Amino acid sequence: MAHVIAIDGPAGAGKSTIARRLAERLGYTYIDTGAMYRSVALWALRQNVSPDDAFRLEQLAVAAEIGLLAQARVHLNGEDVTEAIRTPEISAAASKVAAVAAVRAALVEKQRRLAERESVVMEGRDIGTVVFPNARVKIYLDADEGERVRRRSEQQPGVSAGQLSAELAERDARDRSRVESPLVQAPDAAYLNSTGLTPEEVEEAILRIVRARISNGKEH
Ligand code: DC
Repeated sequence: MAHVIAIDGPAGAGKSTIARRLAERLGYTYIDTGAMYRSVALWALRQNVSPDDAFRLEQLAVAAEIGLLAQARVHLNGEDVTEAIRTPEISAAASKVAAVAAVRAALVEKQRRLAERESVVMEGRDIGTVVFPNARVKIYLDADEGERVRRRSEQQPGVSAGQLSAELAERDARDRSRVESPLVQAPDAAYLNSTGLTPEEVEEAILRIVRARISNGKEH
């Protein structure tokens, strides 16, 4: 039976780095669900679909052929969009598109299908709460705000810390306060704050949680 490790938390907490390392270490498939929301947002922007147009956004989300490939490459309808979905404009648009219930329903269905045949490490905002409430292992990965801004500025050296901080705060507030599947810690998720820890230390801490939960026999 395929297993799911769910990693949720705010932007900049270090989820992608750790989810990728963990997947490699365990031989599971890494699934970045944020890339799916970003892909729908990119397509919507290109088609001039407004973030308020729930009907057309749903059509795009259902029709989008999103490929999550090796080395974290992302394809949308056959095109490599790995870099195109990482701009600040798409970050903001993805957070808006992700507030639309019908978009979420379409993408959650795709996410569940991805885990039908293979074990996955899946990262996002609602994996442990909505997508896989019975996931074998759930981690809520957090980091202090200053650290999250610092990590983002390493990834986007051209943007000022002030601007990054404002963008991150706006996006997080929207992701936490939306009606549909807001970012919250699942009651049975293990909380980990990665502030001041190296990726190796975070990985070790998570592996300890994984081992403890798996030997407890919790299923899925
Ligand atoms: O993880 P990320 O920054 O690439 O995600 C982009 C946006 O998508 C983020 O603002 C929140 C949203 N998202 C979501 O609502 N649910 C998920 N499972 C993953 C991402």
